[in-house]
Amino acid sequence: MILVTGGAGFIGANFVLDWLAQSDEQVINLDALTYAGNRENLASLSGDERHIFVQGDIADSALVSSLLAQHQPRAIINFAAESHVDRSIHGPEDFIQTNIVGTFRLLEAVRGYWSNLQDEAKQNFRFLHVSTDEVYGSLAKDDPAFTETHRYEPNSPYSASKAASDHLVRAYHHTYGLPVLTTNCSNNYGPFHFPEKLIPLMIVNALAGKPLPVYGDGQQIRDWLYVKDHCSAIRRVLEAGCVGEVYNIGGWNEKPNIDIVHTVCDILDELRPLSDDHSATSTYRNLITYVTDRPGHDRRYAIDASKIERDLGWKPAETFDTGIRKTVQWYLENQGWVANVQSGSYREWVEKNYTGRAA
Ligand code: NAD
Ligand code: TYD
Repeated sequence: MILVTGGAGFIGANFVLDWLAQSDEQVINLDALTYAGNRENLASLSGDERHIFVQGDIADSALVSSLLAQHQPRAIINFAAESHVDRSIHGPEDFIQTNIVGTFRLLEAVRGYWSNLQDEAKQNFRFLHVSTDEVYGSLAKDDPAFTETHRYEPNSPYSASKAASDHLVRAYHHTYGLPVLTTNCSNNYGPFHFPEKLIPLMIVNALAGKPLPVYGDGQQIRDWLYVKDHCSAIRRVLEAGCVGEVYNIGGWNEKPNIDIVHTVCDILDELRPLSDDHSATSTYRNLITYVTDRPGHDRRYAIDASKIERDLGWKPAETFDTGIRKTVQWYLENQGWVANVQSGSYREWVEKNYTGRAA
């Protein structure tokens, strides 16, 4: 079996669902269920004995050690993290605790477990750490895309805490020989994406007739990958990646934020047209509102995915056009899910982050 951390969040839940759709190998899913963790993402696995959910913290050494001793996983995939840049600006402490201290404690527990494994089990064991392109910092317009050897220059508390976790993972391989793999992926989008991030926020705000808040000039560039393509890349790295190596994951798909927002509006105009009697808002684009920029906002990210393509033969299945259409469709079909995640603390977050960002 495998142990997944953070498997009730956006990417982790997609990973667990895809894993069990393709394999009968059991998954232990350790997740603290922070605001971003949601058991509803895994509702389709209810009663499925291949999925064992445990609510708990990766920083809880005793819990992690006992799970490892009891279940003897052959691999660990570490998704658990605080993941939102804006939240890291408002409150960095949780990022230090989970992304740095949590990853450290997890590595320590895993080192204890792994060092007592015998022969083949020890040799075949893998610790796969899921990280981000944001650790490499910001690119100028004409810079080449990030390769695996690009220097680390994290600019936000989020990316700095992820960078620290990547370094710890690297050090546990170099010093103790722990068989690690690290993946650094570009921005994901798709089902179960929490509506604090750009794409789901734009979809749910548009459907509610609320302003679509674009930071600064909207010309910041991100490199987008459909979440299920990220999951297939992780499965491939786990299966065939070279121990100690880093793999950048991306779909060669750079887009300015404003283009993303326009695309979301255009798909909604087609699939859920606004009624004619509101002529001022007859296209969702009229909801776009430029607001004060994010402090320290990285201008451009871009992933060079040559290594994973060449060495492991991985390629994404979706283009941006097919992936974004599926995503908008998913949100249209899952408005109950949206309503549930928008209760309580979500409203407080929206107020904290958007009130006071002058238009
Ligand atoms: P998310 O915020 O949606 O989910 C994080 C999950 O981790 C939640 O279920 C949460 O409950 C859980 N968690 C948080 N702290 C925990 C702790 N201390 N112990 C156990 N569980 C804890 O994040 P995501 O977007 O699914 O990202 C998953 C991973 O992928 C993160 O490591 C992130 O840095 C990385 N990543 C994300 C993106 C992206 O675009 N979202 C891109 C590249 C890499
Ligand atoms: P986000 O989804 O938060 O991901 P990240 O900051 O990790 O790349 O943001 C993606 C881009 O969209 C980023 O450049 C910030 C911008 N953005 C907005 O313009 N408005 C918003 O309300 C949000 C949440 C993000």
